[in-house]
Amino acid sequence: MRFSENFIQEVVDRTDIEELIGRYVELKRSGANLVGRCPFHSEKTPSFSVSPTKKMFFCFGCHAGGTVITFVQKAENLDFPDAVEYLANRAGLPLPKESEQNYGNTGVSRKRVLEMNLEAAKFFRACLFDSQLGAEGMKYFHEDRGLSVATVKHFGLGFAPNSFNLLTDHMHRLGYTDEELIAACLCGKSQKTGRAYDYFRNRVMFPIIDPSGNVVAFGGRVMDDSKPKYLNSADTPAFKKSKQLFALNFAKNCCAEKMILCEGYMDVIALHAAGFEYAVATLGTAITPEHARIFSKYTQKVIISYDSDDAGQNAANKAMKILGEVGMDVRVLKLSGAKDPDEYIKQFGAEKFRQVLEQSKTGFDHKSERILSKYDLSVGSDKIKASGEICALIAEYWSAVEREVYLSQASTLLGLPVEVLKNSVEQIRRKQARAYEAKQSREAQASVKNFGDRINPDAAKDPRAASAEETVLGLLLIFEEYRNSVDSGETELTEVDFVTDFHRRVFAAIMRMHRSEGGLRHELFGMEFSPDEMGRIEKTEVARQQLSKNGPEVFRSAVRVLKDARKQESVKSGSLDERIAYLREKQAKLHKGKADQK
Ligand code: GTP
Ligand code: MN
Repeated sequence: MRFSENFIQEVVDRTDIEELIGRYVELKRSGANLVGRCPFHSEKTPSFSVSPTKKMFFCFGCHAGGTVITFVQKAENLDFPDAVEYLANRAGLPLPKESEQNYGNTGVSRKRVLEMNLEAAKFFRACLFDSQLGAEGMKYFHEDRGLSVATVKHFGLGFAPNSFNLLTDHMHRLGYTDEELIAACLCGKSQKTGRAYDYFRNRVMFPIIDPSGNVVAFGGRVMDDSKPKYLNSADTPAFKKSKQLFALNFAKNCCAEKMILCEGYMDVIALHAAGFEYAVATLGTAITPEHARIFSKYTQKVIISYDSDDAGQNAANKAMKILGEVGMDVRVLKLSGAKDPDEYIKQFGAEKFRQVLEQSKTGFDHKSERILSKYDLSVGSDKIKASGEICALIAEYWSAVEREVYLSQASTLLGLPVEVLKNSVEQIRRKQARAYEAKQSREAQASVKNFGDRINPDAAKDPRAASAEETVLGLLLIFEEYRNSVDSGETELTEVDFVTDFHRRVFAAIMRMHRSEGGLRHELFGMEFSPDEMGRIEKTEVARQQLSKNGPEVFRSAVRVLKDARKQESVKSGSLDERIAYLREKQAKLHKGKADQK
């Protein structure tokens, strides 16, 4: 581990949780806690809670939870040491010297990857501007795509020469190893020799730059019709595709009112060059809820400008839903006469695009138009189908005001009385509410049976024991007296008594910390547990806190269940004699229980 426990403690002590989380979530006071809308899943009613005294957060909806470090890990997509470093920098704490060391799955830090990317970006750029090496790339940008030199420079575009070793050799000279280059996805690893080779070859290069100005990844495009058309960096310690938007580094400066979301790099570049510097694109993936939350941090309105073909329009419908869920004002552009924004601007000019932008449709207008265009309203059966689909569309709106507005629009469009449509919408909503409740209760039942528990998969083996373990851990997390009782041996409980692996690890960590000088400190769990596991630990504690019965008898009986489960386990695998002895003991207990009842 890069940082000492004391340093981690100090970082946490120096961090104001309310101020930190308040930058991501609008928090309102509720008793001793603060509540808001969870930044880790889409929701309309607040179920995210922050305890300033305990310095912990927990979401009752998605069960994300943990310390300020866990929060930064999740919100900024950092691993534990990087999250500690991030908070240390924020608090103005100088980093201890050994922080330069490497760590992580790949053994390569985010910082190191960013350094390599920056060097690679400079290299690609130098190649593009090299009159021999880069001639073909420059010709492509300039002649085929109509980009000015200023635009090429503005976006830091580059060229990866047609070679397996030019970049690799260059980076070796700068002191980077094969392993580091492979971890940064700048190099592939040869199956035969195990050596690194240039990952991007004979492609024009688009650096992907995050809002802080770091080069986090690259996209590279072929200059002809070969496949794949675009090659993007895989996820690295510095890059997660589902959280990154191309050109957000520029767009963030002028997007307070609105942003344009496109499909491709070239669309964004063409829009910026034409003066629409608030355009961004996802990196060859569909928009994710993580992207939606990024938008909501920067802007109020998103205008989707996808390709005009069916695939693009269907993708636009999905994007609308995801952006709508975080409360964005979402509009959609329908460009006709061109395939995508890039070609539209080339063909009709920036002024025409600006006009279309101003007429962008609300989600409802766009979708209802698409529905109506499929049907002939003068035919009865068509009209019934169209009203069915439009009512289903209106039923999706959560706000009653929005439903009223769209109902009256729909009434005009379809030529049907508002009341009739309203009845039908309410009927759909009631049906959906029933289906939702049924689903909830099925999920609750499934979770009781512990099916599909990713974090603690062992729980399915023995749900009763797993639930007793949760009780034991919850109590140990909250009350020092129970930890003391285990420590002193008054309560006989050790790691071997745990049936599930995850709970055994949590137990071991609790007791280890309890016995250490500093005592139980939640931030230290983060050293060995993932953010998801942190959420589960927090859930175990919160669930326990909500119960009123937390006395010694609850603790003792949960421990007894565990002891019994273990005995049964060992009996199953034990000798015949052991099994008989166990059954006798159990029978004796039963008799005694009956006698006690009498
Ligand atoms: P140009 O042909 O350069 O104008 O690209 P485009 O943006 O018009 O192409 P398209 O609509 O086909 O692709 C949109 C975006 O999807 C691109 O900017 C890429 O990010 C991504 N993309 C397209 N083709 C590929 C591919 O073969 N592989 C990957 N990983 N991404 C791709
Ligand atoms: Mn295009």
